[in-house]
Amino acid sequence: MTMAEMAKALKDKALAALNGVADAFSLDGFFSSYLAKKGEINALMSKMREIPNEEKAEFGAAVNEARNEVSKAFEEKKRALEEAALAEKLKHEAIDITLPGVSYTQGRTNPFHAIIDEVTDIFLSMGFEVCEGREIETDRFNFELLNVPQDHPSRDMQDTFYFPDGRLLRTQTSGEQAHRMIEGGKGPIRMISPGKVYRHDDDDATHSHQFGQIEGLVVDKNISIANLKATLELFAKKMFGEKREIRMRSSYFPFTEPSVEVDVSCFKCGGSGCSTCKGTGWIEILGAGMVNPHVLEMCGYDPEVYSGFAFGIGIERVAMLRYGIDDIRRFYQNDVRFLKDF
Ligand code: DAH
Repeated sequence: MTMAEMAKALKDKALAALNGVADAFSLDGFFSSYLAKKGEINALMSKMREIPNEEKAEFGAAVNEARNEVSKAFEEKKRALEEAALAEKLKHEAIDITLPGVSYTQGRTNPFHAIIDEVTDIFLSMGFEVCEGREIETDRFNFELLNVPQDHPSRDMQDTFYFPDGRLLRTQTSGEQAHRMIEGGKGPIRMISPGKVYRHDDDDATHSHQFGQIEGLVVDKNISIANLKATLELFAKKMFGEKREIRMRSSYFPFTEPSVEVDVSCFKCGGSGCSTCKGTGWIEILGAGMVNPHVLEMCGYDPEVYSGFAFGIGIERVAMLRYGIDDIRRFYQNDVRFLKDF
């Protein structure tokens, strides 16, 4: 065997050995045996001194070729082993997507707020603004500016909690009418104001010491009761369905003149009479009226120039009708079984 043939034989032996390497540890061993400084390839190269000059070139080339090929094969093997190790690791760390996930309880919108959102959207689409309002109110705004002076008999129905300084938990959102007129600039007004109110009341299926109202107020030149009717009719259709009609019955509120109760044709039976409308075909949904000129005057609007209408919607009442809720107290009991129904 010539020296060049020996180089080729060493190359073949090394490649065969590399073939058998299956892990990083044996790969290290392989490197020491063949490619390291004291490995077999360098050992063969050191034989250069012993061979005749005319064979040196061929021998050197053969050993270099052996070194190059074995080095290349070594690098490839190393990469293949690393990739295999990574794949194996990923296999163990992979997420088992067949396992059931962690479940989170998702909150829902309380029907009370769902109705506020719905009514608000309807009035926003008609160009109304939304005023925030306040729950702690002065006697002046809750009563006096609404034509309810001290000793007015209607105060009897609206007893509430009083603070030592005379302020009170408001009994109606109507005070926001006065706030808007007095504090909101003197131009035309189209506003609604949703919020909670408090009253001494029996707590039963349809009464609660705390409930919600949405106040509405429009003030401008040439506002008539026709505008009130058209606005509330559009509201009723958007809220309860295209086929709904409204009717107005005369009523009394101290801050409106004339005053009306507004009924909507029953959205359950369409007006023929059922348990929801108690056989009448009509459901009362709100109180309304033309703003009393005296109220306009007290709030800085000249009743000779301006007129307006106002309305007050009971939030729970609308929610109870809309969702078929039988007891107003359910809104405040925080029973998740109830809340989950919406
Ligand atoms: N504030 C009245 C109440 O609590 C509801 C109401 C009636 C508001 C007529 C109004 C209105 O703005 O015009 O019973």
